[in-house]
Amino acid sequence: SLDRRLVVVSNRIPLSWVQEGGHLTTKPSSGGLISALEPLLKAHGGLWVGSAGSEDSAEIREQLESAAKQHAYRYTPVFVTADEQVNYYEGFSNEVIWPLFHDLQSRCVFEPRYWDFYQRVNRKFAEAALAETEQRDVIWVHDYQLLQVAHFFREQRPEACVAFFLHIPFPAPDIFEKLPWRRQILEGLLDYDLIGVQTARDERNLIACLRGFLPHYKIMGRGRRHSVLGPQGETRIEAMPISIDYRDFARGASADTVVERMASIQKQYPGLHIAIGIDRLDYTKGIPERLRAFRALLRDHEEYRRKITLMQVVVPSRENIPRYQELRSQIEQLVSSINGDFSEPGWTPIEYMHHSVPREELLAMYRSADIALITPLKDGMNLVAKEYCTAHVENSGVLILSEFAGAAPELGAGAILVNPYDEVGVACALRQAIEMEPRERHQRMLRLRRQIRNADILGWRDHFFAALENLPERKAAQA
Ligand code: UDP
Ligand code: G6P
Repeated sequence: SLDRRLVVVSNRIPLSWVQEGGHLTTKPSSGGLISALEPLLKAHGGLWVGSAGSEDSAEIREQLESAAKQHAYRYTPVFVTADEQVNYYEGFSNEVIWPLFHDLQSRCVFEPRYWDFYQRVNRKFAEAALAETEQRDVIWVHDYQLLQVAHFFREQRPEACVAFFLHIPFPAPDIFEKLPWRRQILEGLLDYDLIGVQTARDERNLIACLRGFLPHYKIMGRGRRHSVLGPQGETRIEAMPISIDYRDFARGASADTVVERMASIQKQYPGLHIAIGIDRLDYTKGIPERLRAFRALLRDHEEYRRKITLMQVVVPSRENIPRYQELRSQIEQLVSSINGDFSEPGWTPIEYMHHSVPREELLAMYRSADIALITPLKDGMNLVAKEYCTAHVENSGVLILSEFAGAAPELGAGAILVNPYDEVGVACALRQAIEMEPRERHQRMLRLRRQIRNADILGWRDHFFAALENLPERKAAQA
């Protein structure tokens, strides 16, 4: 374990504030980063620095303090103005880095103003962390919204220990090179002592970009462990796939209330196979592609009509960004046209929900689903895949998983892997899942659950702590 204080810095914290009808209200935050980090901070304690709406108000500070009283960790809020939210969060983070790093260059908006704001807000986060921390603390910055924090942090505290974890993929050089600020981003990354990425592929891509765009830096190592020597000092790079709290999910899924709720969901669909999709409403998740594959199954294989229902939950996300608004209407048009074409009295092909679901309901949905249909075009990890398997405590259920999810290398042996762009292939995987013998289903799920149990969030934390222990002193600091 770690004998120094842990300070996590991320754009989001588990509470989010939204303006609704002139009032500020809180809601729980969504997404994989929060799902993974929250149990870790609860267990370990420390400090969590993150954004808390646009106005510094006594009310927000009070809410954060009272939330902190329930845990072993505290919050330090960062206040991001409306202008900064537009240009740093919606703009640079989610219209530049997010699409580009998911290989979707055509969705990028390379607006120069975004970059200025990105740096300004990264500096703001660095300063908030500086004000609250000491030399000995371990600063652990998370995700693509904050790539430059170490750069600003080090200006004032060059010898601090600052680590980073990237929750999303890192793209190959021929994609990364489109970024007008590619050098600055890479150099900023090398201000970290340690960089964790999700998969071996992400590590390969990052190393290839460093070799290509910063040729004067010395790079050593291979596979899942590298070390880069530059003028700022040494940076270690390691692949460490993130995960979930296995025991907590398995225990939660076995609760009586969840079992009851599962039974009542299943009663709604007598004799039907239930396939489930749960995603933030995001174009990286391949939702329209999935709906088209489902339509292909019903169109080309009449025998499956009235046999299967797709429960598709989309959790609202980044709703101010035009691409996300377009996607919502695209999905809703597809759902309504498929339901219009195929529904019969007593059977609706797609049950569509556009809202977030509380933990117990989520677990009951996972457990009642015979099939999980998880088809991102690209995903850093995809924790929903791990949660679905973990919730299937009786080892039933079939996981259909995109080969482009970060979880695919770990879960590929037990899942049915698909190419999300291959409509016919995905429809075929659905048939295979429906027809799978109980014995095979059981064996595959057993394998999946063992894999997740053996590499859960505690293993991830230990991996990170072990990497920290082995770090060399920062060279620049010694000079
Ligand atoms: N989730 C959520 N709110 C919901 C439904 C699900 O926060 O209403 C959680 C889900 O349990 C999972 C996370 O959101 O832990 C999604 O993580 P994932 O890695 O699959 O994708 P991301 O949203 O981070 O891209
Ligand atoms: C992904 C990102 C996280 C982000 C989450 C939700 O999981 O990796 O950094 O927090 O999506 O997105 P949001 O924009 O609402 O924070």
